[in-house]
Amino acid sequence: EKGGYDYFMLKEIAEQPKAIADTLLGRVGLDGQLVLDEMRLSDEELREVDKVVIVSCGTSFHAGLIAKYAIEHWTRIPCEVELASEFRYRDPILSRSTLVIAISQSGETADTLMAVRHAREQRSRVLAICNTNGSTIPRESDAVVYTHAGPEIAVASTKAFLAQIVACYVVGLYLAQVRGTKFGDEIATVMDQINEMPAAVEKVLETIEPVRALARTLKDKKSVLFLGRHVGYPVALEGALKLKELAYMHAEGFAAGELKHGPIALIEEGVPVVVTVPSPSARHRLHDKIVSSIQEVRARGAHTIVIAEEGDEAVVPYANTLIRIPQVPTLLQPLVSTVPLQVFACEMATVKGYDVDQPRNLAKSVTVE
Ligand code: F6R
Repeated sequence: EKGGYDYFMLKEIAEQPKAIADTLLGRVGLDGQLVLDEMRLSDEELREVDKVVIVSCGTSFHAGLIAKYAIEHWTRIPCEVELASEFRYRDPILSRSTLVIAISQSGETADTLMAVRHAREQRSRVLAICNTNGSTIPRESDAVVYTHAGPEIAVASTKAFLAQIVACYVVGLYLAQVRGTKFGDEIATVMDQINEMPAAVEKVLETIEPVRALARTLKDKKSVLFLGRHVGYPVALEGALKLKELAYMHAEGFAAGELKHGPIALIEEGVPVVVTVPSPSARHRLHDKIVSSIQEVRARGAHTIVIAEEGDEAVVPYANTLIRIPQVPTLLQPLVSTVPLQVFACEMATVKGYDVDQPRNLAKSVTVE
């Protein structure tokens, strides 16, 4: 059942192009309009939405953080992202015009379920993004979009994460379609770009070998830092979470702009710092800013591991290790930039002799609060 792989996690990492493709399947109707699985919310209700609140835990929380950038950009609806375990304890402001999106691979996470129940008590509409058919969270929600990643066995989430990002994007575009904030042809353009992502992820998987070698070189390091900006920031958090849970190493993700506000004090000779670099072709100035962050940590002795687009030459002088990813639109970059981080964590656990599929103290679905 591991299909020739040593671990389920490796198999599931390899299945990511299919997970994305299957999640996209059947989303565009004959009339060119987007279609969702179980949408028991009318267009009228969706037009009334004045706030989106995403609730989830762990890796699913990181998918929510990424979704915020796309949802706000496409729909202009304010979008908050909150850890499900914090959500209901702060008396959140919810109403009938709040759309709560609950993201959960298992559909059974107690914290997320409790957040869903709390939202429904406040009469908010709840849409679940879930990988498990008929599980509790979708059953208790008003609408469901299933991620079709297939069963995820390894405790560390990989293919479900990429499928969640894709599903969130489809939901964001659907909202934009219903509310008219994006024209049909703009939506079709983004969908075409998303449809190219399975091939882009496949390409990353084919060039992943250097990441494995890297894990072997860095195996005795005490701590690994991850930096990113914009959608690269949640990617940094996800890279750190994967390394903690699988390799039991201290790891932290930071927004690169925060470096100077404290974390730069952690940089000393030999500290590995993994940086995901936004596309130099994007109109904003984030690329140049992150290049100077890389320069800064490198000047203080960090071992820089730079994940940058093919053709991005500006990073070359400052990278101790350079990992190339295909050129993709900024909002879609997490779908390719997360993959090397998953492989890095998996390989690090392997060289340290840990059980990749069953990390200590963790369960696949956390059904207690
Ligand atoms: C990390 C991981 C966990 C889950 C979290 C939420 O690799 O698997 O952080 O993402 O427990 O689980 P779901 O998505 O099932 O609600």
